[in-house]
Amino acid sequence: MRVYVGYVFCSRIFFGVVLIMTHVVTENCIKCKYTDCVDVCPVDCFLEGPNFLVIDPDECIDCAVCIPECPANAIFAEEDVPEDQVHFIELNAELTPQFTPITRTREPLPDAEEWNGVEGKLQYLEK
Ligand code: F3S
Repeated sequence: MRVYVGYVFCSRIFFGVVLIMTHVVTENCIKCKYTDCVDVCPVDCFLEGPNFLVIDPDECIDCAVCIPECPANAIFAEEDVPEDQVHFIELNAELTPQFTPITRTREPLPDAEEWNGVEGKLQYLEK
C-alpha cells in the first residue's frame, strides 16, 4: 500500500490523503506463468522470473483488470489475498528488483495445465 499526501487546489485549499493498494501474484502462478495478465496491464507493472511473475507494488494502480485474465486465479487485490497467501504480498515486493519487466503475453510454461491448482508450489519458486 502506498500513501500519497498532498494539497488539492480548488476554490479552497484541501489537504488530502490517498491510499493506493496494490495487487499481488500468489502461489498458483508458480510453474504455470500463463502471462495473460501482462497484456492488459495499463502501467506495465509485471516482472518475470524463471517460473513466476510478480507485480511491482509501487507501479500498480489498483485497476484490477488483470484479475479475471489469469487462468490460474493467482492475482488478488492486496486486501483480498487469502490468509494462507499473505506472505506473497512481501514476496512480490522483495522480488520486484530481481525480476525482469515483461510487457507482452507469451506462451505459458510447458506443464502449466498439469501444475494449475497444485498446492504447495512455493517450494518450486525459482528466483
Ligand atoms: Fe501468473 Fe496468472 Fe499472470 S499464472 S503469469 S499471474 S496470468
